[in-house]
Amino acid sequence: MQAMRIILLGPPGAGKGTQGKKLCEAQGIVQVSTGDMLRAAVAAGTKLGLAAKSLMDAGHYVPDNVIIKLVIERLAQPDAKPGCLFDGFPRTLGQANALRDAGISIDYVIEIAVPDQVLVERISGRRVHPGSGRIYHQTHKPPQRPNIDDVTGETLVQRPDDAEATVRARLAVYHEETEALVEYYRKLATQESGLTCARVEGDQPLDQVFADLQAILKSKSSYRSSGK
Ligand code: AP5
Repeated sequence: MQAMRIILLGPPGAGKGTQGKKLCEAQGIVQVSTGDMLRAAVAAGTKLGLAAKSLMDAGHYVPDNVIIKLVIERLAQPDAKPGCLFDGFPRTLGQANALRDAGISIDYVIEIAVPDQVLVERISGRRVHPGSGRIYHQTHKPPQRPNIDDVTGETLVQRPDDAEATVRARLAVYHEETEALVEYYRKLATQESGLTCARVEGDQPLDQVFADLQAILKSKSSYRSSGK
């Protein structure tokens, strides 16, 4: 059976991590989150983690060669063979081209679109469980007990790069470096029949965004837009 691969594109706080986890459960594929992989390296104190930390804390991107190596190694693992969902990758033209050059086919590229002003509020209310990457929001997706992970009972934390000034820097980098990939993949989709590009309005309730994403996976078409 051919592997199914999905790319979720979108700015910081768009919901890639949250929706990606649910989609992976529904589709039986693994989530390849370069952000989670880098945070794991930071937590483990590896050479990669030490080099990445200051860039991440400042809201800058980690160099392409580092990210590409990380992803190619991850895809070689057996659990990624049936397919995967890329969350936060690719983020630059260099990364997208490397994926293509490596012959890794993509079935869906879905943009989760959310206005910048909504993203700042979302990210400032985000709390995460460092061990699992489970994502909460103080208002929109609160844990059962304040600041406590529902599954392990451990304390939730705020990501170091979620300070407001850093969030604004991350949004600027997204617009400068990553947003152009939406057009890159739209053009590819018109040339290659195997790729579906779509856009989901991410400024809707969590369940509605998930329903829109699932609807796209159920109907293959060249370009679709949900919601407003
Ligand atoms: P990464 O971890 O990938 O961060 P990001 O892309 O900035 O995205 P986020 O994790 O902030 O947001 P998300 O879209 O996953 O939203 P979430 O679901 O959490 O990368 C971090 C850093 O690592 C980068 O800045 C860079 O330095 C480095 N890096 C990573 N990949 C790289 C690469 N490929 N190349 C170079 N450098 C790389 O949701 C956010 C909050 O909103 C949550 O609290 C959630 O509960 C809430 N929420 C979600 N959806 C909704 C909704 N519909 N309504 C209300 N609340 C919602």
